[in-house]
Amino acid sequence: MNFDFTEEQLMIQQTAREFAQTEIAPSTIERDKNAEFPKEIVKKLGELGFMGMMVDPKYGGAGMDTVSYVLAMIEISKVDAAVGVIMSVNNSLVNYGLEKWGSDYIKENYLTPLAQGEKLGAFALSEPEAGSDATHQSTMAVKDGDEWIINGTKNWITNGQNADVYLVMAQTDKEKRHKGITAFVVEKGTPGFEHGVKEDKLGIRSSDTCSLHFTNCRVPDKNVIWDVGKGFYFAMNTLNGGRYGIASQAVGIAEGAYEAALKYSLQRKAFGTEIFNHQAIQFKLSDMATRVEAAKLLTLQAAAMKDAGQDYIKEASMAKLFASETAVYCALEAIQIHGGYGYVREYLVERYLRDAKITEIYEGTSEIQKIVIARELLKEING
Ligand code: CAA
Repeated sequence: MNFDFTEEQLMIQQTAREFAQTEIAPSTIERDKNAEFPKEIVKKLGELGFMGMMVDPKYGGAGMDTVSYVLAMIEISKVDAAVGVIMSVNNSLVNYGLEKWGSDYIKENYLTPLAQGEKLGAFALSEPEAGSDATHQSTMAVKDGDEWIINGTKNWITNGQNADVYLVMAQTDKEKRHKGITAFVVEKGTPGFEHGVKEDKLGIRSSDTCSLHFTNCRVPDKNVIWDVGKGFYFAMNTLNGGRYGIASQAVGIAEGAYEAALKYSLQRKAFGTEIFNHQAIQFKLSDMATRVEAAKLLTLQAAAMKDAGQDYIKEASMAKLFASETAVYCALEAIQIHGGYGYVREYLVERYLRDAKITEIYEGTSEIQKIVIARELLKEING
């Protein structure tokens, strides 16, 4: 696979890098400490076109390719993974699905403001009793004339309190298992729809995560995405795209941790020399650099396959699996290289570890990625 980036891709990468340094980095520590949502930053990302990166310009998007999106996500997440996930959910889990499977009405009324960054999106699949086992939805939607009445609870919703547009999966025919799940667009402020309190998280603290509660919430039939009974396929296909988004976020965290460790190793002295000169440290840095590179290549491969119109389910899951484990690995090694300084907030590397862990959990745990990969391997064998 050829990764000679085009001039446009390099320009987008550079824009993201500069934006991350000038607009995001100065407030990262405070927002992490106070779990404060980066409202102004998200607004500016929208103005840059980064909240609708791959959406067709006729729907207000920037019309960029997936490789550019991955490059931008890495740069943003390297500086602040909480901002990374806000951007990833809007781009991969919300915009992508609405552009591909939304009606003209949905595209005009919801996708366009989301892609322009005027509105923020959230994706609501998980429930208190259904995380990995996503077909077992308890949230119900019952048809009543030209409306649906939704009842139930969703959990762990990124952008949960700050979103304007929510994509909600609900069971519309329990007998049919996953073929009886339907996806709906639900607007903030719809009567019967409320969000819960913000979760107090280990990492990505300035992104907001909460539960959503639906009590006789009425949604018009025209807000059904794709078709009745297609909600699970909608969620799965959308999550395939989400997975290279989270892989990019994880690569950003891993690279950030690696670069911090390298820099520190060239400054800190022990036993009469910079610690970089000790093989114990060189081995760690070499392993970190190699894994970062491999994770980046896997992620770019999934993105390039999507851009080429190829099936990328296996590659997206492989990228997420490997990149998220690389992020945790690099964050732990960066702390080890920093010694005691790595364990305190002042030196920032502890945040990489707190931020890294969630990448092994959300948008499909590492165990789920292995199931997806194994099923794809079987498909390949069976032809
Ligand atoms: N892409 C496309 N289609 C898929 C798919 C994928 N990745 N995974 C499953 N499907 C299809 C299957 O082909 C099958 O289709 P048919 O009806 O044609 O046979 C259908 O979906 C049902 O699949 P299974 O029979 O395999 O269902 P299952 O219950 O055995 O397993 C699963 C499905 C792969 C485990 C799935 O439930 C899953 O991916 N779970 C993880 C859910 C997840 O990632 N949640 C993340 C929450 S969102 C989040 O974190 C958002 C946030 O805010 C950050």
